Amino acid sequence: MTNHHTLRPVRVGGLDLPNRFAVAPMTRVSAAPDGTPTREMAEYYERYAEGGFGLVITEGTYTDTANSQGYLNQPGIVSATHVSAWREITGKVRAAGSRIVLQLMHAGALSQGNPYRAGTVGPSAVRPRAEMLREYGGSGSWPTPREMTGADIEAAIGGFVASAVRAREAGFDGVELHGANGYLLDQFLTDYTNRRADSYGGPVANRIRLTAEVVAAIRAELGADFCLGVRLSQGKVNDFGHRWPGGAADARIIFAALAAAGATYLHIASEGRDWIETARLDGGVTITSLARQVSGLPVIANGGMHDLSQAAQVLSGGHADLLSIGRGALANPDLPRRVSRSLPLETYDRRILEPMATLRNARQRLQGMRRVRHPA
Ligand SMILES: Cc1cc2nc3c(=O)[nH]c(=O)nc-3n(C[C@H](O)[C@H](O)[C@H](O)COP(=O)(O)O)c2cc1C
Repeated sequence: MTNHHTLRPVRVGGLDLPNRFAVAPMTRVSAAPDGTPTREMAEYYERYAEGGFGLVITEGTYTDTANSQGYLNQPGIVSATHVSAWREITGKVRAAGSRIVLQLMHAGALSQGNPYRAGTVGPSAVRPRAEMLREYGGSGSWPTPREMTGADIEAAIGGFVASAVRAREAGFDGVELHGANGYLLDQFLTDYTNRRADSYGGPVANRIRLTAEVVAAIRAELGADFCLGVRLSQGKVNDFGHRWPGGAADARIIFAALAAAGATYLHIASEGRDWIETARLDGGVTITSLARQVSGLPVIANGGMHDLSQAAQVLSGGHADLLSIGRGALANPDLPRRVSRSLPLETYDRRILEPMATLRNARQRLQGMRRVRHPA
């Protein structure tokens, strides 16, 4: 195991990483009510670094005091208080030998808890599919969003750029735009949520425009060397089965646009499914290898990568450069250390996220499960 492909160093987005394991972004709704990250969050992120993850990608973090916040107790990066609390976290993670990237997220129409504004916004006034997410404190159907104006779009781009600047101040090694899973940037990319008649709507080259503009605006502000990833997915938290209607042809246009705008890595999420189920596009090519080929950028694959034989295959087959791990990391915050020592992995138990995905809830659940396994 010590020679496992996953343990080889790699350079991604200008960052030298000791191995191929990244913590996938995971919302834990455990910040203070004003969005300030807590000490509990610092300990949570530090544990992954101590457990050997080369890269930690944070949970989706809101970017403005208007419509970006998605959940109550979601962390933000919109104030000096947020910056200094995040600085504690980046300091701990970096001191333990990992790199840390902040995921920037605008929830758009999938907002279910935002103290700054009543109502939601989106590319078009289309009510989102399915229901709000219980694990983050929501219930019932989503409200229909207000269609964003040109000024709303400019303000949203401005929020991303100012947040990237603050992320650098807070000691992050880079930022990742949340363009996946059904949130604002993905709402623009998705044909059925984007019915716009302007230059942001219509063909896929227009629907990826907003994400590309955010990338270009951050790049212009922070210079050529800043690590700036983009996360994309076909599936969504409220529509797991969605696939890009144009398949590989759409994928080529999307990946090329983001590379041209100045992204330094692409991260392909497999929302709700394993990589193997979501990766195949028409023609048999995998979505991650196509992303590498078209963009020329390093690519992070996701979805069940705690299955180490799949992980090794993805790397050796040239499908990706790095692997992000979500549920497997919740169960094994020290997964890379275990792999390097050939130790078995714990199985993920979904009850640690029930009834809500908070850190406190997970801690209590884990204590309870250990008591059952090892009664005193
Ligand atoms: C509790 C939880 C919270 C998540 N929050 C986010 C998030 O904030 N941003 C994001 O891009 N994906 C989020 N995801 C999706 C994961 O990053 C990942 O794509 C998914 O869990 C599949 O990977 P896995 O098979 O390794 O778990 C979340 C997943 C879980 C389980």
